[in-house]
Amino acid sequence: MIRINENYTKLKASYLFADIAKRVSAYVAANPAKPVIRLGIGDVTEPLPPVCVEALHAATDEMARRETFRGYGPEQGYAFLREAVVQHEFAPRGCEVEADEVFISDGSKCDCGNIQEIFSTDIRLAIPDPVYPVYVDTNVMAGRTGANVDGRYPGVTYLDSTPANGYVPAIPSTPADLIYLCFPNNPTGAVATKAQLEAWVAYARKHRAIILFDAAYESYIRDPAIPHSIYEIAGAREVAIEFRSYSKIAGFTGTRCAYTVVPKALKAWDSAGNEHSVHALWNRRHTTKFNGVAYPIQKAAAAIYTDAGKAQTKALTDFYLGNAKLIRAAVAKLGLKCVGGDNAPYIWVNTGRDSWEFFDLLLSKAQVVCTPGAGFGKCGEGHVRISAFNSRANVEEALARIAAALK
Ligand code: MLT
Repeated sequence: MIRINENYTKLKASYLFADIAKRVSAYVAANPAKPVIRLGIGDVTEPLPPVCVEALHAATDEMARRETFRGYGPEQGYAFLREAVVQHEFAPRGCEVEADEVFISDGSKCDCGNIQEIFSTDIRLAIPDPVYPVYVDTNVMAGRTGANVDGRYPGVTYLDSTPANGYVPAIPSTPADLIYLCFPNNPTGAVATKAQLEAWVAYARKHRAIILFDAAYESYIRDPAIPHSIYEIAGAREVAIEFRSYSKIAGFTGTRCAYTVVPKALKAWDSAGNEHSVHALWNRRHTTKFNGVAYPIQKAAAAIYTDAGKAQTKALTDFYLGNAKLIRAAVAKLGLKCVGGDNAPYIWVNTGRDSWEFFDLLLSKAQVVCTPGAGFGKCGEGHVRISAFNSRANVEEALARIAAALK
């Protein structure tokens, strides 16, 4: 009799965004005459930048000719993209990253979820709350936690992000081995200062820990004092892995392309105390389980590093930040407190009410979808996340409907 991985039984029945999609579909089926506006899942709505579309067409034409056709590419990504990443993302910020430390992939969700499998099952985890559910769920699947008790898993040190700490969690007083950080933050939109990141790097160095730094939203940072990369912090190369994505900078949520930086200076240890290269382990995992991102997609990603590409992606992120500004103003007008939206596409609203109840209220009274804060963790209770990813017309309509519903 085949048996299941029983760690899966510790999980909530469905993934947060699948759960919300199900509720919204049920509402739409029951109310076909009421059009719903989605400000829930952070999915982009605006078309790909023209430079990306041109590159996709040109690369597809290459695939149509015998002389330029390509089969399997390098699992880690084509050199043209890995080198462009270093030249345009890291070198200008003084970050020491080499092209062969950049692993191109089909998404940060997969990389954030998969990375834990190269570490031991008995490591100590530190994970923020609220948090992007992938970090917790993938560790639950791997057996690093006990069964869920009252919304939390024993085996995880939760890093509480609350109104009291401005939604930037404090460093724990106990040691951890694997630390998940996301800035600009999903779901709160909060950002971390250089001093705060320096403190995390110092903590990781002290405990010979590793920071998994999710920087999927870095292209929304507008405050020049806020670091875009963990590698802007001295000493981070020895303790941090960074995740970056083309999803939110260039509208690639459906196109799929991202990258993960694993510095060669990063070490971890086996049970006998022998040192191992984390880069070598990830390379082993990546080449075994992944066959590379499609050539036309990598060409489209590389196109954002041209002058035209930089201007087009800046215009795209500026557009969504314009939506965020409108959302922030509308929330303030309702007398509710919020954070985020300045350097991030998410606005975290302190509703002071049960977050699923507030979600249901907005859906039934305004036909607007948000994300209930409790879905991101215990500290998310009393909050909802509003995403700035939609057309201007839809955002304006949604805000007018919310204002009328909450009057
Ligand atoms: C979200 O809504 O949190 C995002 O869509 C997460 C993701 O990019 O997977």
